[in-house]
Amino acid sequence: MLDRPHPTPKDPTLDERALAKALSGMHFIGGGFVPPRSGKRFAVHNPATGEQVAEAAEGDAADVDAAVANAATAQKAWAAMPARKRGAAVASCGALLREHVEELARLIALETGKALRTESRVEANTVADILEFFGGLGSELKGESVPFAPNVLSVTVREPLGVVGAIIPWNVPMLLMALKVAPALVAGNTVVVKSAEEAPLAVLRVCELMNRVLPPGCFNILSGYGPECGAPLVSHQKVRKVTFTGSVEVGRIVAKAAAEKIVPVTLELGGKSPMIVFADCDFEKTVAGAITSMRFTRQGQSCTAASRIYVERPIVENFVDAMAAKVDAMVMGDPLDEKTDIGTIISHGQYDKVRGFIEEGRATKGATARACSRMPDDPALKKGLFIQPVIFTGLQNASRLVQEEIFGPVTCVFPFDDPQSVLAAANDSEYGLAASVWTNNLRVGLELAHRLEAGLVQVNQNLVVQANLSYGGVKSSGLGKEASLEAMLEHFMHKKTIMVNYQ
Ligand code: NAI
Ligand code: MG
Repeated sequence: MLDRPHPTPKDPTLDERALAKALSGMHFIGGGFVPPRSGKRFAVHNPATGEQVAEAAEGDAADVDAAVANAATAQKAWAAMPARKRGAAVASCGALLREHVEELARLIALETGKALRTESRVEANTVADILEFFGGLGSELKGESVPFAPNVLSVTVREPLGVVGAIIPWNVPMLLMALKVAPALVAGNTVVVKSAEEAPLAVLRVCELMNRVLPPGCFNILSGYGPECGAPLVSHQKVRKVTFTGSVEVGRIVAKAAAEKIVPVTLELGGKSPMIVFADCDFEKTVAGAITSMRFTRQGQSCTAASRIYVERPIVENFVDAMAAKVDAMVMGDPLDEKTDIGTIISHGQYDKVRGFIEEGRATKGATARACSRMPDDPALKKGLFIQPVIFTGLQNASRLVQEEIFGPVTCVFPFDDPQSVLAAANDSEYGLAASVWTNNLRVGLELAHRLEAGLVQVNQNLVVQANLSYGGVKSSGLGKEASLEAMLEHFMHKKTIMVNYQ
């Protein structure tokens, strides 16, 4: 740990560029900012302008060792603390983050290109909400009593797992981190997070702020690349639980490494979520629902994005027209501008990937692409990674655009004729994260809700992850749940059986 104070502002600051610089080049380990053992750093860019805004510490196995050692030492005293006290500390972290919402929102907008009003501020508020929610659950870590024999008291008690290794992506990094860190801590574990290389700053600030409340070593964060920093964290012998959000491809690697050590793993992976719209739906509400479901304000960079929209044939043309008109009215621009609805893609890699899908779709015979909204004309944004949202029609279900996760502002609309055929098309996917059904016939809505292969199905709404509702996919979309009391009990604790023969 550094013995000199690090020059990050004590109070909330709205100067996101100065804050980004102040956070440069450091991990947060054992209650303080620590430089990487190797001295290596990598650049962090603002995807709206291309400017470099910071340098992040490039972590490796030596940094992982230091962070895990600190977490392991801290865990004993943390687990011995009354559970409600741990909860109260996590809830206090939530209250502290509320004071910093504006600051965190600006910082996350700067590094990810997500618009301040429509996305970044929402994320920062939700993080505080998640911490407050889990902070209230300290007294819920209950076991059971089991009838066994008259002279034997048989009970189960829940115990923490130890050090949790968490790997997070860049699309909603603070929120996805909070979904792991909050329940892990309340359950009595300590945590080492490996942030995503594209978005290491806001999560580092969150960690610093939470460490004003938490004992040192309970919550540590490293930045760095996946193979050099993420992989040694996953395979570290003292990491007793791994939780990962990201691509299916890396999820497989992480699950294999966890299997080598026989430790539990939670995986939140991709999605290709269907939205099913019946002609009897509330038309205006459903069109608005399609815009939010597709997460156009997040440039479609969401694992629950409604990237396949099935509309009953009599209304499909009107529906596409109404959707396109709504997206046309959205403002693409500087993420830090309050007027902006839609920001940028995160990185050049993702930009090229998304553009590749769009070009492939445009070149597909029979397919039509409707590009919506307008590219920003501000010269300061000419290097920005902006992509016009695209609505495709006329694609086949077998197309790569319909089967693979694009993770960009691209959705495909299809007509359908009856509930059976649309159910078959919707379930014809490797993924099973989320789905929604829009109809005023609740009998049909419920029937489909039961038969859709997904971890989360919503009827006549399509909200993002909510505190207290279990969240997580089936099929290739993942393993395990997050966001709820049950998820905390099942995935961050183990049950010990204790039997006492008192005769
Ligand atoms: P990714 O899965 O490569 O990265 C996610 C995290 O895993 C990052 O922190 C990364 O550093 C880490 N990582 C990478 N290789 C690793 C390894 N061998 N061991 C341990 N950790 C490792 O995702 P990426 O490349 O950022 O995005 C690619 C695609 O993944 C996207 O286009 C999208 O389809 C999907 N994705 C899904 C997300 C979700 O929320 N489910 C979030 C981000 C991406
Ligand atoms: Mg990758």
